Amino acid sequence: MKIDYQEPSKDLLMRIDIHEKYGSANIDVWTNELLKPQAGMNILDVGCGAGKLSFLFNEYSKGKAKITGGDFSEELLEKAREKNKNIGANINFQFLDFNQPFNFADQTFDLCTSAFAIYYASDLNFTFGEAHRVLRSPDALSGNSGGRLFVSGPLPENKQMFYDIIKEATRTAIPPMPGSSRFKGDIFNTIDKLFAKTELHKFENHLTFPEVAPFMDYVRASLGEDRKLWTSMFNGNDEYEVLIDKIEAVAKKWFNRDGKLVMTKVVGGILATK
Ligand SMILES: C[S@@+](CC[C@H](N)C(=O)[O-])C[C@H]1O[C@@H](n2cnc3c(N)ncnc32)[C@H](O)[C@@H]1O
Repeated sequence: MKIDYQEPSKDLLMRIDIHEKYGSANIDVWTNELLKPQAGMNILDVGCGAGKLSFLFNEYSKGKAKITGGDFSEELLEKAREKNKNIGANINFQFLDFNQPFNFADQTFDLCTSAFAIYYASDLNFTFGEAHRVLRSPDALSGNSGGRLFVSGPLPENKQMFYDIIKEATRTAIPPMPGSSRFKGDIFNTIDKLFAKTELHKFENHLTFPEVAPFMDYVRASLGEDRKLWTSMFNGNDEYEVLIDKIEAVAKKWFNRDGKLVMTKVVGGILATK
């Protein structure tokens, strides 16, 4: 299944900022506690975007892990390289299309991660096969366990309130989201077949919006035409604005009723060992 998805940097950075401002929990802490990226590790971050996870691992390992961030968006890679330079880090940000063979030798990495990205892959067996190939195999002689894969993404119950408001505003079905519809099923099962051990972890984050405006910023940064995930709901900019107005009217109604808007992110983390 080919998924025609793009992520404009302004939308991605807006959503990251909103999670930081209004979230009750910190996904970075959860990720670090699960993975504990150590000095000396060789790490590949697939679909790295503007480098959120790569910078997190760099900080946690005090700049002593070897980190490569790969993405097919030159716009986002440029943002990541700019920050890399500004903070004096040594992360290697390079082009990587996860629908194509990864440009690395077998058994290069100790850890391969992908946050909210790799589940957009067209052919899951191929892409996770590539992740498996570039991870270190277990070594019985030295007693080293195999390399680890970590993939985070939305679980089906993710941000129910967001979808409920859009459903009430439009009275039409929400287009299927490639992430949440496949994460716990196809994606978990594909990884589980390829890897020796697979676990599913869960992270919950309640985003409490004290007014309607930041919620609408989140809506705009999710439904934008360039992301191509919601375009079945509108045709061109005028219809997009009509849709946004309808969503805002329902969001205001909910806000006046409840005094706040609370959206719960429910994120899954698949952690697998080769
Ligand atoms: C929601 S963003 C997440 C970015 C980053 N991992 C983060 O947590 O901030 C999804 C990312 O997947 C990237 N992406 C989508 N399709 C891709 C592909 N075929 N190959 C590589 N990256 C891709 C997008 O460019 C975007 O950076």
